[in-house]
Order: sequence, then C-alpha cells, then structure tokens
Amino acid sequence: MKYLLFAFCLFAFGCGSDDASVEQPATQNNTGSGGKGDDPGQVCDADCDLGGVDLGDLGADAGADMGDMQLDPNVIPADSDLLFDYLQAETYLALEGQSEIKRDPSSFHGNSKVYFNAPLVASFEAGNLVHPKDSAAVKVLFDDQDVMVGWAVAVKLSDEDSSSAWWWYENETTTVNDPIQAGVNGRCARCHGGGVDRIVTPYPFE
Ligand code: HEC
Repeated sequence: MKYLLFAFCLFAFGCGSDDASVEQPATQNNTGSGGKGDDPGQVCDADCDLGGVDLGDLGADAGADMGDMQLDPNVIPADSDLLFDYLQAETYLALEGQSEIKRDPSSFHGNSKVYFNAPLVASFEAGNLVHPKDSAAVKVLFDDQDVMVGWAVAVKLSDEDSSSAWWWYENETTTVNDPIQAGVNGRCARCHGGGVDRIVTPYPFE
C-alpha cells in the first residue's frame, strides 16, 4: 500500500519540488515599470513601428524551453505550432484568469474566459500604458454549452507602443492547429486599437 501511494504520488503530483510549473520567472520582464508607460503623453513615432521585431527569436526561445519536462506557463510562444501545444495542454490554467465564462452576446469573441500571464498582470498593476515584451493574454472560447471551441491569443513581441509589437493568434477548433490568424497585425488589430496598449479586457478582472 505504501508503495502504491508512493507511486500515485509520483504520478499525480511529482511530489519532488522540481516541477517547473510552480516556478515563477524571476528573470521575466515583470518589473514592468519605468519605461515609456509612465509617460501618458508618449506618442508612437516612426521609430517605434515594426522596428526590430523578430518573430524568429521568440519561437526559438520557446522551442528551447519545449525540451524541458514542464513549460513555464508564463512563457507564451508567439509561434503557431508551439502555441497550439501550449493551448491544447491548457497550460494557461496556471495563470491568473477570469473566475467564470463571460457571456456577453455583443462580444465579438462570444462566450469566453480571459487569462493574463505574469508580465501582463505586473504591467497592469504598475499602471503601465505600454506593456513589456512577453506580456500575453489568452482568451478561451466556448460555445453555448460551455464546450471549449478555440482560443484567441495576444503576445507582445517588444516593448514598443505599436500595433506591430503585438502577435495575434486565433484558432476556432481545439483539435487541429488551423488558425484564422497567426501573426502581426492582420484582422485583429483593427478592434484592438484601444484598451491599455491594445488589451481591452479590464484588469483586475471583473
Ligand atoms: C470586432 C472587434 C474585435 C476583433 C476583430 C477582434 N477582437 Fe479580440 N477582443 C475584442 C473585445 C471587445 C475584447 C474584450 C472582451 C470581449 O468583449 O470579448 C477582446 C478581447 C481579446 C483578447 C483578450 C485580451 C484583450 O485584449 O482583452 C484576446 C487575446 C483577443 N481579443 C484576441 C483577438 C484576436 C487574436 C483577434 C483576431 C483574430 C481578435 N481578438 C479580433 C474585440 C475584437
């Protein structure tokens, strides 16, 4: 019995403390303050458009993490395939999220539940007007029977105040990675021009 319990413990909980999912990313950009966010007068000039955004970088970093047993739930890859794995595994459930499904019939996204990663939470808490690189939001989409039907995601690629600093992804199925959007700008940016640096959901969550 003792062994059985031990085995169960290993299987279900890992019991050791090396489960990376409980680790907080001390080195992530979650200081969040200090930058241009403190200056509400900041306007995006030509320099902050697109600039050095390198989609390859983020994907490569996330790819390296992928080799580890457990991913850090706060690292949300701006890479369609890696992100789909992250979403399918429901890794975002470890993040801070809305307590229940929002059912606003007027919402473009339908029934949904939103999660913010730690850098985005820290940025909102700091009152930043521009979120730092690696800030990310996951919106889980549900049908009227509360069956999960897809995900919409926003990941910040740089510290810039620019719509091209955001990478957008939306997949309207949970079984295959067949996104209607996976990239910078596209159809998402037209609605996501407002909010706090294009994040429309208010924080703290209601
Ligand atoms: C017609 C307007 C509209 C379009 C187009 C749109 N969104 Fe949204 N989105 C919203 C609104 C409004 C919210 C706030 C919550 C709500 O009402 O659903 C939101 C919320 C979100 C959130 C949660 C974070 C936040 O900003 O609040 C994500 C992630 C998101 N949308 C992703 C996307 C992606 C990806 C696309 C493109 C495929 C997209 N959206 C296109 C209106 C839009």
